[in-house]
Amino acid sequence: MSDSFNALKAREEKLLCRTYGRYPLAVARAEGCRLFDPEGREYVDLLAGIAVAGLGHCRPELAEVMAEQARRLVHVSNLFYQAEQLDLAERLLSTCHLGKVFFCNSGAEANESAIKLARRYMRKVKGREAFEIVTLEGSFHGRTLATLTATGQTAKIKDGFGPLPEGFVILPFGDLEAMDRAVGDKTAAVMVEMIQGEGGVRPLPPGYVQALAQLCRDRDVLLVADEVQTGLCRTGKFWAHQHFGIKPDILTSAKGLANGLPMGAMLATDEVARGFEPGSHATTFGGGALVSAVASRVIDILIREDLARRAAEMGRFAMGEARKLAEKHPDKISTVRGMGLMIGIELKFPGEEVWKALLSRGFVLNLTHERVLRLLPPLIIPKQDILAFMRALDEVLGG
Ligand SMILES: Cc1ncc(COP(=O)(O)O)c(C=O)c1O
Repeated sequence: MSDSFNALKAREEKLLCRTYGRYPLAVARAEGCRLFDPEGREYVDLLAGIAVAGLGHCRPELAEVMAEQARRLVHVSNLFYQAEQLDLAERLLSTCHLGKVFFCNSGAEANESAIKLARRYMRKVKGREAFEIVTLEGSFHGRTLATLTATGQTAKIKDGFGPLPEGFVILPFGDLEAMDRAVGDKTAAVMVEMIQGEGGVRPLPPGYVQALAQLCRDRDVLLVADEVQTGLCRTGKFWAHQHFGIKPDILTSAKGLANGLPMGAMLATDEVARGFEPGSHATTFGGGALVSAVASRVIDILIREDLARRAAEMGRFAMGEARKLAEKHPDKISTVRGMGLMIGIELKFPGEEVWKALLSRGFVLNLTHERVLRLLPPLIIPKQDILAFMRALDEVLGG
């Protein structure tokens, strides 16, 4: 490791709470699909800040929107009307069937808002004592107390934080019978990711999503699509639920919404949005003029450049190449799965060494669940970068 890297590491140990297991890489600059360390060494970014920089890093068009907006209006709080927020709401709502938006600052906050809205809608509008939130094993919904309780992952992220809030039920992944048994009078909502991201790039089984949507409709229970990771063209449609022809009552978004500025949104049907009234839910920064102006331009670019179609095509190409490698290395790769540019390559053994070897060859990606190499590249990733990565992976697996 270089002196500058070691110096950063030492400063961090002194200054920051120890919440992160960092990669052995410092990033000083980023541009498009490239990251640069303090020495100027270049890396191909196949992670995009964990599905955030969908349009690539430091895109000049967005930098201009930021600079221009920063000179006019950045923040005044949600006590005031702001056109930027409404311009963004119009754009966001034009991408799906939903009717109202609540802006916030992160995926966890969007999901927290969804949980609160679902409960309040049931009580105040429906007059029902339905408060349970049903989620799936392997899911990830955030790190606030409610969203970590909803998260269906190992005790590690919950350890030491109790008592956790009541009213959450976690069911086995992809098990419709368990869902059928669990959803009842007390259920306010079922919250799912169409493809579990942190859970190892796991798509819900074929037919499950439609059957779940039907079950929720039949029992008058809300369906919440957590599209924090899968949304904004990542999977080859603007929203992942649109692959399945379903209409969730609530949808949550964050990550790529402002291409790197913190922003979240919860979208709901007009009917369900009646669950909130002035004063029932709020946030200081949500939908500020600066992030909203940037997010509006992000949506314009996603549509203008038809990045959903590009993600679908490039994803098919990347998964095709990865499957060729799986055939070549049947003892090393067990499965290749995903949708669009949300791709998991599962190894048959713990992947730390493979991941490190790829990093040292200049490819930044993520390893989840010990064995899953997760690719979430910018949606503008060129074919050559994908090919270069596959060649490097081939080499690392033994050529
Ligand atoms: C599906 C999903 N939901 C929620 C979150 C939480 O988002 P944030 O980290 O912005 O709070 C994440 C983050 O990875 C996610 O993947």
